[in-house]
Amino acid sequence: MIHRPRRLRTTPAMRRLVRETRLHPADLIWPVFAHEDLRAPRPISTMPGVFQYDLDSLARVAEQAVTAGVGALMLFAIPSDKDATGSAAKDPDGILAKAVRRVYDVTGDELPIIADLCLDEFTDHGHCGVLDSCGTVNNDQTLLHYQQMAVVLAQSGAHILGTSGMMDGQVGAVRTALDDHGAIDTSILAYAAKYASAFYGPFREAVESTLNGDRRTYQQDPANSHESLREVALDVAEGADIVMVKPALAYLDIVHQVRESVDVPVAAYVVSGEYAMIETAAAAGMIDRRAAIMEALTSVRRAGAGLIATYWAAQVATWIGES
Ligand code: PBG
Repeated sequence: MIHRPRRLRTTPAMRRLVRETRLHPADLIWPVFAHEDLRAPRPISTMPGVFQYDLDSLARVAEQAVTAGVGALMLFAIPSDKDATGSAAKDPDGILAKAVRRVYDVTGDELPIIADLCLDEFTDHGHCGVLDSCGTVNNDQTLLHYQQMAVVLAQSGAHILGTSGMMDGQVGAVRTALDDHGAIDTSILAYAAKYASAFYGPFREAVESTLNGDRRTYQQDPANSHESLREVALDVAEGADIVMVKPALAYLDIVHQVRESVDVPVAAYVVSGEYAMIETAAAAGMIDRRAAIMEALTSVRRAGAGLIATYWAAQVATWIGES
């Protein structure tokens, strides 16, 4: 026998030598939730180990992120009051703008702040945009709200805006608004290929979503892949600096195809349901938690994502630092 692939697997050091894919803390984006009404962190029951934070505890989380060496913090915020147009999202004293400023005060340019740019946490109907009189999401009106929100978040200190609403033309609209206000260096992380996924279930509790129905008129059909390449190409043409695929684990084929099709950085988001599945199975003693997390994130990296958004970011960064 000439070919014995097992030779390269004989010892841990041999396996390390020929390993093709590694995770590095700097590649990890840590999504965190700020809540306007809290005085202390509150656990999110659908996402074991994930919390909503008040601004003081959020500041400590930002320090922890720097210590762990994670690549960036991604901020979501839940306001006290929601209304039809998501006014709090565009308020310079709203919770998201405040959270961005608070983190920036602590970590400055040491830790890129990605602010989520979408209305769904702020609207009383829970949709990612504003509704017309028939109750459907009005794409072009929504863009005007995103433009205002973009300027507020950039002026608050966000380095990157995560356009997650899946409105047509959102990247171009946001880029124009930023440039018109001198925010030429604020980057756009486009949720370029975002599917209407059942795996967002636990997140809806995390942001106390009031959504009735679904987002299938703006998020993508899970059955499609060419459509993702079209969405990604449009976002790059409109000025996206980074493109993201979401969810990640159920869409590794899309991650791979997107990586082959563009020359900007590609991110993938391991979403709340993907997180919860592993945590729940591990808590039930069915799988080895650490091994399952590392394997799942490595698969996303191997598929082609240079950046991975994951609720395990700090945990995994710490593990990598120890090993
Ligand atoms: C909406 C948004 C969602 C997530 C991030 N941004 C939910 C949705 O589209 O319904 C989901 C994240 C997760 O499940 O971890 N702007």
